[in-house]
Amino acid sequence: MSVRTTVRFHALIPAAGTGSRIGGETPKQYLPLAGKTMLCHAIAVLARAPDIATVFVVLAQGDALFAGCGAAELGDKVVPLYCGGVERRDSVYNGLVAMAGAVDADDWVLVHDAARPALPDAALARLIAEAGDDEVGGLLALPVADTLKRANDVGGTRRVASTAAREGLWQAQTPQMFRYGVLLAALADSGAAGVTDEAGAIERIGLAPRLVMGSSGNLKITYPDDMGVAERLLAGGGRP
Ligand code: CTP
Ligand code: MG
Repeated sequence: MSVRTTVRFHALIPAAGTGSRIGGETPKQYLPLAGKTMLCHAIAVLARAPDIATVFVVLAQGDALFAGCGAAELGDKVVPLYCGGVERRDSVYNGLVAMAGAVDADDWVLVHDAARPALPDAALARLIAEAGDDEVGGLLALPVADTLKRANDVGGTRRVASTAAREGLWQAQTPQMFRYGVLLAALADSGAAGVTDEAGAIERIGLAPRLVMGSSGNLKITYPDDMGVAERLLAGGGRP
């Protein structure tokens, strides 16, 4: 049994994808944005948070770019793990397994995508304060603001089949923060279940993650067009 009395917070950044939707030779997380790689921006936000003890970064096996990407200058909290898997879920799970010796079951783990390089410090602090005070943990998310349409294919043309109610719908962001032991067990069990985020795995074991107000600045870079928006955001100091 651990004799530690204060619970610690660790970050886990899955960064083992290829960025197929953005295209190009360089994996998405190593594309330059406002003078740094996307991955360095994502690591920096977590590494400078006083509450975060360690920032584990899951890289593809054989990744040759991390060593030269500037992450070494972000401090000794940063620990690379060369254990990426086929899907994002596999990378997160492999990372959790690889960090086992360095964390306690009750420690909090904040899983954050390298593809969200502009996470505002204030949103991170909000998650740590609110989810850290919760039995289950939680995630950053935003209430859906747009009117939602269900699509239908009519003779090769997309048309609106109906308008879906948006009341009570939230868009999940990262970080998503849960206790190490619970998250590891939940993900171990979620392999073929169509679970796409950590909260989904936690929901599957019957727990209800807390929703913490995210930020429109915490944008996810998926397509080439997203790069310009992120560049302007990061060059301008981000959004609160
Ligand atoms: N990721 C990962 N291991 C994978 C796939 C994704 O660690 N096998 C990471 C990505 O590096 C990214 C995050 O998970 O930081 C979110 O994934 P996504 O935005 O989908 O990135 P990619 O999978 O790289 O992009 P794409 O789906 O367009 O190929
Ligand atoms: Mg992907």
